[in-house]
Amino acid sequence: MEPATKLLAGSGRRGRFYADGMGRLGTETAFEVLARARLLEARGREIVHLEIGEPDFDTPRHIVDAALRSLEAGDTHYVPSAGLPEAREAFADYLSRMRGVSYAPSQVVVTPGAKPILFFSILAAVEAGDEVLYPNPGFPIYESMINFVGAKAVPLRLDPSREFALDLDYLRDAVTPRTRMLILNSPHNPTGGVLSPDDLAVIAEIARENDLLVLSDEVYSRMHHDGQHASIVSQEGMLERTVLLDGASKTYAMTGWRLGFGAMPEHLAEQVARLATNSVSCTAAFVQKAGIAAVTGPQDEVDRMLAAFRERRDAVVAGLNALPGVTCAMPRGAFYAFPDIRGTGWRSRRLSQHLLQEGGVALLCGTAFGEWGEGFIRVSYANSLENIQRALARMKETLRKIL
Ligand SMILES: Cc1ncc(COP(=O)(O)O)c(C=O)c1O
Repeated sequence: MEPATKLLAGSGRRGRFYADGMGRLGTETAFEVLARARLLEARGREIVHLEIGEPDFDTPRHIVDAALRSLEAGDTHYVPSAGLPEAREAFADYLSRMRGVSYAPSQVVVTPGAKPILFFSILAAVEAGDEVLYPNPGFPIYESMINFVGAKAVPLRLDPSREFALDLDYLRDAVTPRTRMLILNSPHNPTGGVLSPDDLAVIAEIARENDLLVLSDEVYSRMHHDGQHASIVSQEGMLERTVLLDGASKTYAMTGWRLGFGAMPEHLAEQVARLATNSVSCTAAFVQKAGIAAVTGPQDEVDRMLAAFRERRDAVVAGLNALPGVTCAMPRGAFYAFPDIRGTGWRSRRLSQHLLQEGGVALLCGTAFGEWGEGFIRVSYANSLENIQRALARMKETLRKIL
């Protein structure tokens, strides 16, 4: 047997203690920009934060109280990896009610945030060599995870001239015998676009015909500015081939609590729960109890937050359209605007960096969401109207200087 040192030297990894696969793992630029903005703040600069996707509201009081009661009652131990039985039941009931379908608790897995559902279901379902279709621009973790497991990431370009709708003919043509999974996200981060029931019917037909598993990211399901939420799981024959991803982060202003849940075919739920056992063990019990209070308790604060987001959306879109070289379509869901900055003649990354450095406004370049995000920037309007107006005024001044 060869000595280990020789083997290491032969593989070119000597002194490097991370695996090759790490080179395929991407990141989420929002956290990097946030860190850069915080650094500027530490040096005395004042920054308006429109980069991070989290509600600026406090978690509703009755949810916090449920967590406190749970901690007082001693919920400080390990609990089952798939989730507390009562939490799985509450989330199964919530998802069933909201989507007009019927989920059993055994189909639900509870995780620390919605992201692990994404991570675990891709790990559990996708093999190296498989192809996965995903929206581009889109939440960067999709592409990152597809690449990480050695699958081929096949972008579905969202068309800015059609309110960032999916091109269904393109989707049909993009499916090959190797396509394993299709990722959907509605309402959509970063464009605010939504999938209509008509589009979903066609997508469901394509999924059924080609035996695809659909990963439907619906973390913004309660954030529609016009119209109702439509989910692919409500389409015929889709319950048994969809991972429905949802969570408390956005709906109940609970980003820091880390609470997500997924509903999927039971055989897949078992695998996803096994990945939880192998990694996080479980989601904190008091957080799950808070989540039960969230989905079973009063929903008026959700409505109040949505009304505030809608008012901000109108202000942000009007303000962006008044900027030189910028046009912005009206987003229909979530809390992001995705203005077209091609009229400025600047590349999206350079412009977003300039707006931070010179204007003190933190936002994200469109390419943080994939190559088809070039020519756009993402503005999160999960901030007060006052801060939004301040940011718009600074952007106007910064753009005036360079155009
Ligand atoms: C589209 C999308 N999916 C999933 C997530 C992850 O949510 P969580 O914070 O609950 O992990 C986010 C968060 O920004 C998101 O925008």
